[in-house]
Amino acid sequence: MSSQTLREARKYEEVYEKLIPEENRPKFHLSPRVGWMNDPNGLSYYEGKYHLFYQYHPYDAHWGPMHWGHATSTDLLHWEFLPVALAPDEFYDKDGVFSGSAITLEDGRHLLIYTGVMKRTAENGQMKEFQTQCIAVGDGLDYEKYENNPVINSDLIPDGSSKTDFRDPKIWKKEDGSYRCLVANRAPDGSGHLLLFKSADCIHWEFEKIFAKNERRYGLMWECPDFFELEGKGVLLTSPQDMLPEGFEFHNGNGNLCIIGDFDSATDTFTEENVQAVDYGIDFYAMQTILTEDGRRVMIGWMQNWDTTGAHDGSEPWFGQMSLPRELSIRDGRLCQWPIKEVEDMRSNKVEYRNYDITATKNIKDSDSESVAGGVSLEGINGRCLDLELEVKPKDIQAMYDRFVISIAADDKYHTDIVLRPKENIAKIDRKFSGSRRAIVHQRRAHIPWKSETIKLRIVMDRYSMEVFFEDGMYVMTASLPTDVSCDGIYFNTNEDAVINITKYDLN
Ligand code: FRU
Repeated sequence: MSSQTLREARKYEEVYEKLIPEENRPKFHLSPRVGWMNDPNGLSYYEGKYHLFYQYHPYDAHWGPMHWGHATSTDLLHWEFLPVALAPDEFYDKDGVFSGSAITLEDGRHLLIYTGVMKRTAENGQMKEFQTQCIAVGDGLDYEKYENNPVINSDLIPDGSSKTDFRDPKIWKKEDGSYRCLVANRAPDGSGHLLLFKSADCIHWEFEKIFAKNERRYGLMWECPDFFELEGKGVLLTSPQDMLPEGFEFHNGNGNLCIIGDFDSATDTFTEENVQAVDYGIDFYAMQTILTEDGRRVMIGWMQNWDTTGAHDGSEPWFGQMSLPRELSIRDGRLCQWPIKEVEDMRSNKVEYRNYDITATKNIKDSDSESVAGGVSLEGINGRCLDLELEVKPKDIQAMYDRFVISIAADDKYHTDIVLRPKENIAKIDRKFSGSRRAIVHQRRAHIPWKSETIKLRIVMDRYSMEVFFEDGMYVMTASLPTDVSCDGIYFNTNEDAVINITKYDLN
């Protein structure tokens, strides 16, 4: 039985989505039906379709009492909105239906597991948000919350672990048919640890073990954990809050983290080996994965970062978008990401240049060079929804360029730059001139130990974003862009002569 709160939200989104013209949204990145979106939730395949839910506040383009928005797709790129799936309408989730995941039950029903948030006065007299794990079961359209929610209550939490920071359950089924659920929690040292629970039926849960500990190494609280096996390794993804920068690997604030290690499935023991950031750009958080029917591990993140979410006035009809679905693999001990292969089915209007000379502009040497819009443009190489493969090499290996700049979403006033600095092993993205009017983060650098003097990259742009894949997906930099879609120029600049191979497709 649906509640009044849910019915109202469903009615609201149906009316107000009509005020958002299709062309004002990203074309193939999911955006909220109306209002605000954050984390991807419940990414799953159910009855022939991918389901993607999301943290959702329909009534405003700012964060508010969380609902679960809902969309389905057959290719993870073209989405159809379904009515909002969950609303904060029970005493145990009255202050928010927070992030979680989904699975198909043995009897064929679709199960959602999420964090219920309830504010109440804590022992010290302060008002606190208590977080518990709850389930709802449904048919892919309507979901009924379980009558005995929460299913993972604070009495199941080990001593010393926080009852207020306890969220974002990620569920999976083991080969023996039992279920595991990994939940983020704040440890006694104030940083994150991940609690693993087990169940035979997804309803009755017991605490199994502390699966991983941050011990104040990578930020503080770890949010939105995901764990899976890939190519014989265990892969732990999580989104840490309050990070301190470490070289160019991690940046301040909310970040993203991947730990690859050894996994003993018999004892659910994960032993850390390699640690890295997932995305080196500006906007990527709270990623979640799915194992597709054909065995690919695919990841989607929220293409935003928390520190900039206050920097918009909220008058826009929607805010927040998901990243491209990315296929994951492991190469040289690192997590590698590549746009889901279905993107290639969207390609049209191929334009190609081979061994094209980009002649040096000497004034590009000064540090402000990226403020210079313009440079070389090539007939047919422009657009805002595109897939662009590029190889850049020096014309003369003795005269390697210091910087090669690719300006996208450009006209004579606006541009966003991708800067290659091979001598320093750096790639930089810069959206300072993208039309942003706020003092937010505009630039970010990644340390990329380039393998050869020919630098390879792939840029996927949708109307309001760019995702740049370097070195065949070994390093990725993502950013949302505010630039008006009429700015669709692409320019190349270099301080020493260079030669490029370029293939561009429009994406439809
Ligand atoms: C991460 C997060 C989650 C929480 C949700 C609330 O972005 O803070 O930990 O469940 O957002 O919207």
